[in-house]
Amino acid sequence: MPIDYPLGWAGPREKVLDRGATAVAHPNIALIKYWGKRDERLVIPYVDSLSMTLNIFPTVTTVRLVPEGQADTVMLDGTSASGEQRQRVIAFLDLVREMAGRTEPAAVDTRNSVPTAAGLASSASGFAALAVAGAAAYGLALDPTALSRLARRGSASAARSIFGAFAICYAGRGVGAAADLSSYAEPVPVAKFDPALVIAMVNAGPKPVSSRAAMRRTVGTSPLYRSWALSSKADLSDMQAALQRGDLEAVGEIAERNALGMHATMLAARPAVRYLSPATVAVLDSVLQLRRDGFAAYATMDAGPNVKVLCHQADAARVADTVHGAAAGCSVVTARRGPGARLLIGAEQ
Ligand code: ADP
Ligand code: DP6
Ligand code: CO
Repeated sequence: MPIDYPLGWAGPREKVLDRGATAVAHPNIALIKYWGKRDERLVIPYVDSLSMTLNIFPTVTTVRLVPEGQADTVMLDGTSASGEQRQRVIAFLDLVREMAGRTEPAAVDTRNSVPTAAGLASSASGFAALAVAGAAAYGLALDPTALSRLARRGSASAARSIFGAFAICYAGRGVGAAADLSSYAEPVPVAKFDPALVIAMVNAGPKPVSSRAAMRRTVGTSPLYRSWALSSKADLSDMQAALQRGDLEAVGEIAERNALGMHATMLAARPAVRYLSPATVAVLDSVLQLRRDGFAAYATMDAGPNVKVLCHQADAARVADTVHGAAAGCSVVTARRGPGARLLIGAEQ
């Protein structure tokens, strides 16, 4: 019987195992945000962050070794990647090859189901999947902690998508190798907290300024950045306690203030970075109205105009209806906690 390989894989299974690997990872949404790097080359954050990995929008990535090839090839969503997008993948493969002591070029084929570069965490699912598939393809034996460190080098938010449900990413201590070693993600065990996250997509198009460029400008020019980073430490410990209590109201309040504070740092950058659009604000108003009507609903926004609303699962349909009505043309999808990154095809090393 023919085997139905994903992404158009054809040849015999042994060959697939021998020369490539396929992995899946889901985006995550931070309840305590990462914003700003203290080391750009090693991708070391200034602040710890804490997130929920989603059960929707998987990215599936195949890395196939091409020993006879001249250079890496990168397909993103069915078309050949170019410019910055291609460079980021190649730099990441270079790192994997250096760690593995290998030199062969690779053919990467990656497909997002989340809109790419829209503030819905495509870099998180993208680089988590690439870390898992790339490590397996090049024969690197890495435990989940080491995989999260590797994923961080592609995009710091990706470190958290290695793990399912709730995960914390440490900013780490020291510089150079010490910083690299101490900046990784790990699961946050949370027994009794399984909320819904209603995602209001007001604009699924690519953002004008990447997260990377926006946070660089914020760190470099925003007078509000330091005080947000400081207050984020207190937000994190409050958040950890609220999660352990399973206290949705507290989790939501802390997540909302942390995100609005992050956007304030960007608005104060020179020139300002403003991701929030009139449609974003309309959705935020509808979330306030939901609270006045007695629903526990709290908003968070990333580097983009789309709004994610945390609420009880029992209220998700009502919340989805309300935010849908708030902004013309807005599409709504509801997520909950989802799985960590994993290998679909290829040998575990
Ligand atoms: P987002 O909010 O979607 O995470 P970012 O600005 O952080 O936006 O990152 C978007 C960039 O991440 C893309 O332009 C591309 O360089 C990279 N990216 C997204 N998806 C993938 C993927 N599946 N594989 C490799 N790189 C990806
Ligand atoms: C607002 O991880 O996308 O979504 O490390 O430069 O790739 P790079 O940035 P990225 O930044 C995410 C910022 C955020 C908050 C978060 O996910 O913690
Ligand atoms: Co990103």
